[in-house]
Amino acid sequence: MSEQLILGIESSCDDTAVALVSETGDVISAATQNQVRIHEEWGGVFPELASRAHAAEIIPTIKAVMAQANVSLDLIRAIAVTRGPGLIGPLMVGVNSAAGLGMAWGKPVIGVNHLRGHLRSAALEGGNVKYPALVLLVSGGHTLLALMTNSDDVKILGASRDDSVGEAYDKTARLLGLGFPGGPEIDKLAKLGRPNIEFPRPMLREGLEFSFSGLKAAVARYVERYPDSESKDVAASFVASVLDVLASKCAMALKETKASSLVVVGGVAASPQVRHRMEEVAVSAGAELSLPPLKWSTDNGAMIALAGWDYVRSGRYPLLRPVARLSIQDF
Ligand code: KG4
Ligand code: ZN
Repeated sequence: MSEQLILGIESSCDDTAVALVSETGDVISAATQNQVRIHEEWGGVFPELASRAHAAEIIPTIKAVMAQANVSLDLIRAIAVTRGPGLIGPLMVGVNSAAGLGMAWGKPVIGVNHLRGHLRSAALEGGNVKYPALVLLVSGGHTLLALMTNSDDVKILGASRDDSVGEAYDKTARLLGLGFPGGPEIDKLAKLGRPNIEFPRPMLREGLEFSFSGLKAAVARYVERYPDSESKDVAASFVASVLDVLASKCAMALKETKASSLVVVGGVAASPQVRHRMEEVAVSAGAELSLPPLKWSTDNGAMIALAGWDYVRSGRYPLLRPVARLSIQDF
């Protein structure tokens, strides 16, 4: 192999993830060490424990990815590492490890915006994104709609005023006594139930902003009032409400922007039900649907490496310092 590669490193939350990726989005090797076992007893991510686990796992994960690829260091064009947004301790582990590696290898180190990583995840492994693209980002930390005219240019059209979709899934899972992380658990349970409870569809027809805290509260009230209700029906009704909101906002935004494609990224895009509903929305708007391969929907190193290639092409090298908050419009 003679194609140049970027080593991507992700540690903004509870996954220590590393990958080697070519400029065209081929993933040469990748590894992710998740911390589910560590955080499940707390029912959420415990930042201090996350930092410690990243510190223990990051070098072995980098070594595993390098060994698996078995490529010469000459082929490494740069190291891309998540600089934010995320938890400061976990970010610090990633950024400092990347800085050390860059010094040892004599390679440039690029601090990448995690959200730009998600945006680019749909272009991994042969994925094609047609611009202008309407992007729906649904992750644990963010929920927003954005318009991209090319892989660099992002304009936010609307975002959540409170909880993200991922948070709503996770909190509802906790209410129903399901495991951590809750999103995949709700997703699985919902498939077995009937959506026979009328939960609210927050801000359904009010522009392109979202709100999910009211829905979460409605589920909590319902479960308290009807403790014997079937969890699978509550889960199915919750998912039906979320899907109606996401579908309606995407349909509205596609109509307004006349985007050529609908791109759905972030952890919640790993849900088969979300994927299926978004397919329907894209088809009825005459837009192409672009989704990341399932394993690149949740946090991973490959999306950070691919975003790193954009930074290299445009010569952007943001200050290599962890930042807790960043907008998707930032680099
Ligand atoms: O993008 P991501 O891995 O991390 C952030 O950047 O936040 O997203 C994590 C979120 C969590 O809330 C998790 O419960 C949710 O994505 N998630 C899912 C599924 N897989 C992960 N939600 C619904 N269905 C899934 N299959
Ligand atoms: Zn993420």
